[in-house]
Amino acid sequence: MIKQAILLAGGDGKRLRPFTHYTSKHLLPIYDKPMIFYPLKNLSLLGVERVFLVIKKVHRNQWEALFSSIDVGLEIVFVEQNNPEGIPHAIIICEEFLGDQPFYLGLGDNILLSSGLINRFKKAVTNNPNDAVIATYSVHNPEEFGVAVTDESGKLQKVVEKPSEGLSDQAVVGLYAFGANAVLLAKDLKKSSRGEYEIADLINLFIDNGNCKILVCDTATDYWLDTGTIDGMNSASSFIRELHLRGRKVIGSFE
Ligand code: DAU
Repeated sequence: MIKQAILLAGGDGKRLRPFTHYTSKHLLPIYDKPMIFYPLKNLSLLGVERVFLVIKKVHRNQWEALFSSIDVGLEIVFVEQNNPEGIPHAIIICEEFLGDQPFYLGLGDNILLSSGLINRFKKAVTNNPNDAVIATYSVHNPEEFGVAVTDESGKLQKVVEKPSEGLSDQAVVGLYAFGANAVLLAKDLKKSSRGEYEIADLINLFIDNGNCKILVCDTATDYWLDTGTIDGMNSASSFIRELHLRGRKVIGSFE
């Protein structure tokens, strides 16, 4: 069982200015909780005990204020990322903490709703220490994400970051499981044309090695909300508020 996770809460948050001139987008509210609580709660439901929270140094005081006032029942280790050089870069800077154990990787601006989905993700993780698991969700705007390309039998072929043409409508969501070898593989990556190490390139190495499983999130109660834009934040807030008011279990809560 995977006990550790990296949760990404760095980055520049350019699409959320002016707020990100003075704070991290992951500390902004989604309905009644800081954005980070939703992916953090999912890691807790996955059985994680220790979270390496990748943050910008300039926001460290705010993060410390949050986690010293609320007990989330997890060990939180802050890892400062000086420059947002890409998601695999955040994995590399966590190397000293990960040891030789597999880990989950969560993106701090992604919300997955449904405990069934989290259980299915957990079950998809194998005992093979070199395996990876990704999850996908059908979207109408695939050009804004990494997408999974499969063959007719559903076998995963590759992941393409921000595709310009209609390759696939299956966006790769911001929750992954990786074997410990991900660190070494990440170190071999080259920066893309947009100047970042790409998570799609890392996943493709696992696919090429025959070590990547795909979980398609397609049941009626699976929801994936990306909160990296103002529109995304607002619709996620409205949606979670609606679920809350209709008496559904409180989401993202540590109380
Ligand atoms: O939302 C899902 C998508 O997230 C995936 O489909 C894509 O494959 C993946 O590349 C990513 O795309 P984005 O363009 O949305 O990534 P973004 O730059 O917004 O970063 C995602 C999260 O990771 C966000 O919470 C900020 C954090 N981050 C990002 C970078 C590049 C870091 O902490 N450090 C970084 O260096």
